[in-house]
Amino acid sequence: MASVVVTPKRWMPKGDALVEVRGKLPLVVFGGIPGETAKVRITGQGSHQARGDWQSAERPHPRRVAPPCDRYSLCGGCPVMHLDAQGQADARHEIVRQALEQHGLDTEVLPLVSSPGGLADFRHVIKVGFGVSDIGRIKVGAWGRGSRDVVPIPECLVAAPILRRTMVSLAHHTIDLGIPPYEGGRGVLRSAVLRASHTTGEVLVTLVAGRRDRALSELAEQIARGVPEIVGVWLHLNDGQGNAIFQRDDQGVVGVVPLVGKETIEERLCDVTYRVGPGDFFQTNPAMAEVLYQRVMDGLELREGDSFVDLYSGVGGMALPAARRTGFALGVEEVEGAVRRSKEAARLNRVPAEFVWGPVLEVMPEIAPRLAGTAPKVVVDPARRGLEPGVLEAVLKLEPSALAYVSCNPTAMARDLAALVKEGWTLSPVEPFDMFPNTAHVECLVIARPPGGSVEVARRAPKRQLVR
Ligand SMILES: C[S@@+](CC[C@H](N)C(=O)[O-])C[C@H]1O[C@@H](n2cnc3c(N)ncnc32)[C@H](O)[C@@H]1O
Repeated sequence: MASVVVTPKRWMPKGDALVEVRGKLPLVVFGGIPGETAKVRITGQGSHQARGDWQSAERPHPRRVAPPCDRYSLCGGCPVMHLDAQGQADARHEIVRQALEQHGLDTEVLPLVSSPGGLADFRHVIKVGFGVSDIGRIKVGAWGRGSRDVVPIPECLVAAPILRRTMVSLAHHTIDLGIPPYEGGRGVLRSAVLRASHTTGEVLVTLVAGRRDRALSELAEQIARGVPEIVGVWLHLNDGQGNAIFQRDDQGVVGVVPLVGKETIEERLCDVTYRVGPGDFFQTNPAMAEVLYQRVMDGLELREGDSFVDLYSGVGGMALPAARRTGFALGVEEVEGAVRRSKEAARLNRVPAEFVWGPVLEVMPEIAPRLAGTAPKVVVDPARRGLEPGVLEAVLKLEPSALAYVSCNPTAMARDLAALVKEGWTLSPVEPFDMFPNTAHVECLVIARPPGGSVEVARRAPKRQLVR
């Protein structure tokens, strides 16, 4: 296709640069940088926008670097790797500012808090896919940019080194055993989730298959033998349509069966030992998460006796260290295994915290009476879609004295914060954290306070009882 010379003006949320010229389709440029005039090869055109790949610039942007990965444009997992660290920080800052502006907010955005370990080796969870090459060879790797094609990434710079070794071993033995990828109801392996503990170096592997096959046990044994850090391999069966990795049963349980070893690995952040199992969420960049958790607790000014609620609590990420400060915390999480792990960790750490299993919206009516009159401090850390309809209203009914909004999606966050501002709440400046270097994703924290400032009531913790 043709090439054009263009100057993008703004960032897109996924890290592409956008060219807008009156009377023409918007052009989304992979590898572009706003303000830099560049030659772009047009790669596709839809009814709403055209797409292109950056080719060259006569005067490259001062922050442009050659991406240090030969799969950069095929894989697409690190779309802002063509910028140096400061250039990436500026881009993420601008992406957050644009999201706020789009929702009518002029909230200040603080400088990005850097990832403690730098731009490489930070990912402690990776999801890999299985596919077949044009000549019929099995491939294991990332799903490619804008497609479901699998791109082998054995040298991936952002994955923790132990996960690179795990991925290579998984690819080697899958090919060796000839286990076919699952596609349209045929074959076996769909994907795998590899998680490493940054504390112990242990690895947990969850194989996701469209159907059971005896070769999967053999695969599990072979990778565990080849990589001694692998302490557990589990199988999750997912024969559903669509690209979701995990499928839940009618009870909302992510079913897993053991193939080799143990069910959990341990992580340690903020002096708390967490248990993480197959299907659980845990932050991909644990060193950055520790900084974030401290900022949440400091921003909420947590003190002994405060009523504290962690909505979307995962395996107890914020509830457990917060309970150390307040004396008690309540967490709500919809993945049953994660709730089990939170409870185990509460016992293990001797932390007074309680966890309720279920979707936040369904659980709120059960916990609200226990929180009545306690002016709780609430943290919400929803998935990328942000708060589901009705959740913000239910949170406001608790009459919180402060709300910490933690988000990995500035657009959804801005939408929810705009609704809070409409209710008269005031927002702290947005604090961005570099949880996902080389990507356009950024983790943000905002502390919101109710109209009239924090409510000081006779502080008391929620009534302690087992809800479920
Ligand atoms: C971004 S993670 C945050 C987890 C935790 N705060 C942490 O720092 O590790 C979001 C969590 O919300 C859970 N989740 C998603 N939708 C939910 C819902 N409607 N109700 C309860 N939990 C939900 C997910 O399973 C996941 O554990």
